[in-house]
Amino acid sequence: MKAALQFSYRNATESAVGAEGLHPGDLDQAAALAALDAFRKRVDSGEIGFPNLPDDRTTIRAVSEFAADTRGEVDDVLVVGIGGSALGAYALDAALRGPHPVQIAPGVKGKRREPRPRLVVLDNVDPGFIAAALQRVNPKRTLACVIAKSGSTAESLSTFLIVREWMEKALGKRTRARIVAVTDAQKGDLLAIAKQERYPLFFVPGNVGGRFSVFTPVGLLPAALIGLDIGKLMRGAGDANLLAWSRDFDHNLALTSAAVHHALHTKRGKAIEVVYAYSSYLWGAAFWYRQLWAESLGKRVNRKGEVVETGQTPVAALGVTDQHSQSQLYMEGPRDKMITFWAVKKPRADVRIPRAFAKFDSCGYLGGKKLSELFHAEMRATEAALTEAGRPNCRWTLPVVDEYTVGAFFQTLEFQTAFAGELYGVDAFDQPGVELGKKLTYGLLGRKGYEEFAKRVK
Ligand code: PA5
Repeated sequence: MKAALQFSYRNATESAVGAEGLHPGDLDQAAALAALDAFRKRVDSGEIGFPNLPDDRTTIRAVSEFAADTRGEVDDVLVVGIGGSALGAYALDAALRGPHPVQIAPGVKGKRREPRPRLVVLDNVDPGFIAAALQRVNPKRTLACVIAKSGSTAESLSTFLIVREWMEKALGKRTRARIVAVTDAQKGDLLAIAKQERYPLFFVPGNVGGRFSVFTPVGLLPAALIGLDIGKLMRGAGDANLLAWSRDFDHNLALTSAAVHHALHTKRGKAIEVVYAYSSYLWGAAFWYRQLWAESLGKRVNRKGEVVETGQTPVAALGVTDQHSQSQLYMEGPRDKMITFWAVKKPRADVRIPRAFAKFDSCGYLGGKKLSELFHAEMRATEAALTEAGRPNCRWTLPVVDEYTVGAFFQTLEFQTAFAGELYGVDAFDQPGVELGKKLTYGLLGRKGYEEFAKRVK
């Protein structure tokens, strides 16, 4: 792998944090390798498809060509989707162009120019949010990506109807060319509508679930439309595969990490994982990961059908900001948490702290240092403080936040989740709880065939 990710769990061991940490023997390597083998079988049989996405050059090419054709034509790319159909695109944009609202265009180093096209993710159906978003966007210079694997999610379809009408008022018949759909290739209303309206179409493979779909057109299309290098992204993901299939436990970071998480939860009672992202660029990724971990592992029954009501609750925290908001709880509150730091070695830019007011103690020691020194020191101090307080913590380190590394990191976290699913004995790839909520909503809003669900709510 070009840029090596690192995973360290030294501060999660008994020798670092005492009884709350992993004891020798807590990490069951044989069970971890069995989990890898079990997952491999599901991939080889074609049941699960995300590991094979980096090999799908045809899709990468088609998405890139489509994006190239729109270059210069649009100022805003609207993502109309929710959950796994929205979070990946948002995470990629925030990681690679910068956290809102200080983004810069890719390749425009240090420039303050606002990137075009902007990415506007219309996931929530809060009416004020949708109305405000559409007010600040020019429908004549907009491309809407309507993304729903099921093709029927109420939030995405209602926003699609609103966006389509809003575009038609400005563009008339030309609207057709400005809406692109991403959905299942075989079934669903969005597929039928897109065919009827002759919208350009991209597909989500049947064996890739929503939260594992960032490297299908669900994430790749918006990414390419806003100018990200999806080729590099996929090279990173492909290289992560090589490591994730390794049967060398210590070498396989996704497997080690899955085993550490699983053992800290099931053997040391750490039912909550706080992802402490020490990078504003990775803040969107923390939200993407939250869904991946929560929806995949939070399950009532295991694969044998026994009631287990399991799963580790992921919490997103931003370093250093949340040191002044959350750290108190993590240091002294209930011992139900593990903390995972996300660190970045090389910041996107650095800033020197000016030497001024040197006779004041609070300024004197800062002057002349780089802001990155303060940032890193704060993270190391938080890690050390947690360790001293006997709070297990581990750390992912990314050399930089670029397309290649983000591709590798996201793919590694997907593998970590898949392996953890096998260790917990649950199906990491279904979401019956989400499905029930969807059906109850359909019932309440009078969708045909869902009358029974309306009665259940009422
Ligand atoms: O991971 C999942 O499968 C879910 O979170 C879905 O992504 C989410 O419910 C949206 O579904 P759809 O893409 O069908 O609109």
